[in-house]
Order: sequence, then C-alpha cells, then structure tokens
Amino acid sequence: MKNSKLHLSIIIPTYNEVANIHPLLERIHIALKSYPYDVLIVDDNSPDGTAAEVGRLAADFPVTVVVRTDKRGLASAVVDGFSLAQGQLLAVMDADLQHPPEVMADLLTACQNGADLTIASRYIPGGSVGNWSAFRRFISSGAGWLAHLLLPQTRSVKDPMSGCFLFRREILQGTSLSPVGYKILLEILCLSNTQQIKEVPYRFENRRAGQTKLSLLTQGDYLRHLFSLMRRSGEHKRIIIFIAVGASGSIVNLSILALLTENGLLPYLASGAVAFETAVIWNFILNDRFTFKGRVTTGSNYIGRLARFNLVSLGGLVIYLGILGLLTETTGFHYIISAAIGIIAAFGWNFLSNSWWTWR
Ligand code: GDD
Ligand code: MN
Repeated sequence: MKNSKLHLSIIIPTYNEVANIHPLLERIHIALKSYPYDVLIVDDNSPDGTAAEVGRLAADFPVTVVVRTDKRGLASAVVDGFSLAQGQLLAVMDADLQHPPEVMADLLTACQNGADLTIASRYIPGGSVGNWSAFRRFISSGAGWLAHLLLPQTRSVKDPMSGCFLFRREILQGTSLSPVGYKILLEILCLSNTQQIKEVPYRFENRRAGQTKLSLLTQGDYLRHLFSLMRRSGEHKRIIIFIAVGASGSIVNLSILALLTENGLLPYLASGAVAFETAVIWNFILNDRFTFKGRVTTGSNYIGRLARFNLVSLGGLVIYLGILGLLTETTGFHYIISAAIGIIAAFGWNFLSNSWWTWR
C-alpha cells in the first residue's frame, strides 16, 4: 500500500462557521500540496450562511457541501459524511481551526507508512491542549481515563476523544456506527476492524471565530455513549459472566465454610479464611478461562494473574467490610442494607480493577 496515492475525503461538520471556511480550506490546500483529496462539508442548515460561503469557494477549492435541514447534530453529520464521501481514505476534522489543518499531512504520512487509523493527539509528546483552564484539562483527562477503564479497545490510544483522525475506509466494513455519541472516534475504536493505530501530536488551538456548540451538558451524553459502546462491543457480556462466576464462587465459599466447621475440622473463622481463599482460586480459574478470555495479557503469566486477582479480591473484602461497618455504625442503616451496598461496591471494584489490571 505504501506510496500509492489513495484518494482522501476530509469530512467537516459545520454549524455556523461562515468566517472559518475560507482560511480552513486554504490551509488544508497548502498542507496537502498536490495530494488527491476533496473536502465534504456537512452543514446543518447554518443560519449564518456557511453553506453559501462553501458554494462560493467551490470554484477555488475541491469542496462540496451537503446541507441537512433537520438538524441532527455533529455525530450524525460525520456518519452521513462517511457514507457520502468518495475517498478510500476518510478523515474528520473541525471547521474552527482548533485542529490545525497542517496535521492532516502528518496523519496522511502515518497512514501511508502502514497505519490504518491515525489520530491527531493532544496527549502524546509534542501535543498539547493549548491554554485550557485547569478545570477543562481535568474534565478532559477524566473523560479519557473513563473511556480507558470501561472500553479496553481504547486503552492503547492516548487521545481517544480526539475529533481529528484519518483512516482507511475498509476498517468500517461491516460496522454500524451509531450517531448517538458525538465522539465518533470512540465508535471506530470499539467497533471497527483496525489493525494498526498511530497517533500524531498536535496542539489544540483556540477557536478562530464563532463559538463552541458543545456544552458541559454533553458530558451526560458522553457517559451514556460509553455504556452504549460497552453493550455494542460485547463488553457487557464480561460483566454478566463475572457475576455468574462470582455467584458460583459464593456457593463454593459457603459450602467449604459449612463443611469444615460442621465436621469440627476448624473453628468457624479459620474455616472462613480457607473457604474465602478457595473461592478466590475458583473464581480466578473461571474468570481466566471464560470472563476475560481473549484479553491480551502482555507480560503477565498465569501465576502473576492469580496473585493480582488475589490482591484485588482482598481489596474487595476490605471495601465490603468497611462499608458494612461504616454505614451500619454511622448512618444507622440496617446491617443487611449496608451489606448490600458493600457487595455492590466491592463488585464494582473487583470487576473494574481486574479488567484494568489483572487481565490488562
Ligand atoms: N453539522 C453539524 N451539526 N456540525 C456541528 C454541530 C451540529 O449540530 N455542532 C457542532 N458542529 C461542528 C462545528 O461547527 C465544528 O466544526 C465541530 O463540529 C466541532 O464543534 P465545536 O463546537 O467547535 O466543538 P468543541 O471545540 O467543543 O469540541 C471539538 O473538539 C474536541 C477536541 O478535538 C469536537 O470535535 C470534539 O468532538 C473533540 O473532542
Ligand atoms: Mn471547536
């Protein structure tokens, strides 16, 4: 594939970006030199005349505009763009020049060197978020961290929330992207057929003109998007299997506790310790075999994973006992209610830290 010049279509969603279109097209044109490309603007009927401006500039630049009249938002604009665009390479970027068009050339180079998905990244050396406030940095890195935690397919990518990326069209074959979330890259990372991903650094610039359309309210949508992607990428099945394994482990635990105690082999607390550890090993074997089957486990062997699983389980026990005691003593909750809350918390801890650490 090297050096062959596959046609590139750059999809740019717009809403009220009239003042940005000309400099945007000009800088893209300079950045890509003589590379075969076109720009597809997907506009949601901007009242400021963005589409008409694109129409005027079509004489000077390889650009077309699609105007949608029932405004359906950024994500669906991008998904529509994917199906309308002609290129064998597809790219997405914003219209407001927060993604410097020059980075397109770097993405293209990385793709020509073998990557099938290349991402403009703020979070690798050489990249930066520019002059964001500490608060916005915090929100952004929290959101990225959450994606890494819940969606293992995003873990190899430092900036899974990037709105600027380029990929070979083939990777979308057989995937159906949902226009629900506005982070289209997350959809691609979790659902597409990607072999080699490469990130390229860039500095997230200030908006050139106009104002942002995405508010903090979209953070709620973001959470829903993460959960939806867990479901659609099959990640939720792991949780279900993990619960089933845990339930079977509880039976093992209680049986051994009763067996050792009733036969007078050990005092009940010592039996409890033996029963707990046996159940931990039981759970580990099943989780390794079924729940996290197929998870890449670089650098960890079976015994190493067992040790990690053990530590996580002990942590879960501490969380359970802590919540049980604390809630019962301080809030006056019935101890069964406290225990139920403790079980849920320990379960969450166990699943997430095993997914994150034991079977990383
Ligand atoms: N068609 C269409 N419809 N386009 C829209 C809509 C819409 O409803 N809302 C926003 N856009 C376009 C804007 O015109 C702009 O080109 C682009 O989508 C991004 O919108 P901004 O309002 O500038 O968003 P932002 O700067 O807060 O966030 C962007 O940058 C982040 C960091 O790269 C988005 O691209 C995020 O997805 C990205 O993570
Ligand atoms: Mn922006």
